[in-house]
Amino acid sequence: MKTFYITTPIYYASGDPHIGHAYTNLMADITARYHRMGGHPVLFLTGTDEHGMKVQQKAQETGQTPQVFVDEIAARFRELTDVWNITNDDFIRTTEDRHKETVRVFWQRVMDAGYIYKKKYGGLYCVGCESFKTEKDLVEGKCTDHDAVPEQLEEENYFFQLSAFQKPLEALFDAGEDFVTPADKCKEMRQILASGLEDISVSRSTDKLQWGIPVPGDESQVLYVWFDALVNYVSAIGFGRTEDHMKDIWPADIHFVGKEINRFHSLLWPAMLLAAGLQPPKQIAVHGWITVDGKKMSKTIGNVLDPFDLVEQRGLEAVRYFLAREIPFYRDGDFSFARFEDRYNNDLANELGNLLHRAVAMTDRYVASVVPAKAEYEVATHWTAYRASMEDLRFDDALAAVWELVRELNKYIDTMEPWKLGKQEDKTPVSQVLYVLLESLRHLGWMLMPIMPETSMRLFEAVGTSFEEQAKITMSEAAKWGGLKPGSLVVSGEPLFPRMESVLESAS
Ligand code: MSP
Repeated sequence: MKTFYITTPIYYASGDPHIGHAYTNLMADITARYHRMGGHPVLFLTGTDEHGMKVQQKAQETGQTPQVFVDEIAARFRELTDVWNITNDDFIRTTEDRHKETVRVFWQRVMDAGYIYKKKYGGLYCVGCESFKTEKDLVEGKCTDHDAVPEQLEEENYFFQLSAFQKPLEALFDAGEDFVTPADKCKEMRQILASGLEDISVSRSTDKLQWGIPVPGDESQVLYVWFDALVNYVSAIGFGRTEDHMKDIWPADIHFVGKEINRFHSLLWPAMLLAAGLQPPKQIAVHGWITVDGKKMSKTIGNVLDPFDLVEQRGLEAVRYFLAREIPFYRDGDFSFARFEDRYNNDLANELGNLLHRAVAMTDRYVASVVPAKAEYEVATHWTAYRASMEDLRFDDALAAVWELVRELNKYIDTMEPWKLGKQEDKTPVSQVLYVLLESLRHLGWMLMPIMPETSMRLFEAVGTSFEEQAKITMSEAAKWGGLKPGSLVVSGEPLFPRMESVLESAS
């Protein structure tokens, strides 16, 4: 079976991780966990982009050598994956030897295929974007993403013949509706493509930039940072080194990217791959940007969210839930503490927390904590909605489907009134209601597994099973009704999500 290969962008090692980086990691992590649940082999890669002008300048500002500087930042990005419970299988750094070796082979193949040539060139370069700009990209002479005037560059560089891939790229876009998702982001790329691709400069003179991988055979130039960085997706799996290993992994199934780097992944990268004799990736999934309280995060406004503090103060599980539920993957979304508290108290503490608490407490009270004999109920439609949404990366909709089940079960309790049934001589009716609740909670444990893995484990344990026991089966089996074994004991524990006192109120 082909390994399902998922990647995040590799993050610039030019500053500390922020919530946007954590967000992409989380979306990729949810997808990786979901596919593992289905029983697929998964390879999930993330890492850091450590060369280029931006990093060189930042290192200079701090008075450190670039290597010392990037070592520290890469360590922070690794720490981020631990603190956020991100299950990446590998972490690639572009300063590693394995990467540099692959990049040299990659360059050589593209060169040998005749797609790299040398030419004199002048242009406007935005260091923030690490890319050349044309006048029409600028507003009042500035790059809109970085609010900065680009530098004028004049030098002899190596060029990649991107224009040669006009037709193959058109064919790629024609062949797969879903090559770039969502549809509007795909359309944007098609429009750029329709306006005609131009060759791009893929090296810089070492007079200007020293911090990069030297061009093979020409020490006076280093590689353009994107031509180096994109290759990470194949250097991590051994391209040019242990290519046999790549067979079952490449092409990548999903490259997760933020919208500002879509064109590098949807146009430049497939062309580079074709030039090197490799297949393009299957899907580029483009997500929106997170704003904070309706504003773009910026140091001047002071609304930059620190992903480490956030998790320490609010709890990882609730943060993971909130981002997946509240920020539609394919659109921009807002982080606000007011919304966070609402979601926490309503969805997690009241609806899910109470459901579990009621089910376990009544099992304790009426049937001596023992999971009763099996009884029938229908959760198949919830699973169908959940799976369809997960596969489309619509995690907010998937969670909406999960919460429909949660609410339905709370209503079921209110309608069935098990507290009345529990007082009857015949325990069959109350037992039936309780089995339905406990077994449904096992299903909820499965559905929440990719998004809130710790909560999922706690749900399993509470209803008398465990993660280890559940992990023996795949999702399709798990989704069948009746998996919970009668006779095991439920476990009442601490509340799943203790109600949160409003931080906003307590601060005032
Ligand atoms: N180094 C390049 C990527 C090279 S991939 C071969 C880069 N790095 S970055 O550090 O700027 O990270 C960009 C990515 O971080 C975005 O594509 C996105 O995934 C994530 N985010 C950064 N800010 C974000 C938000 N405000 N909101 C959501 N995600 C954003 O670009």
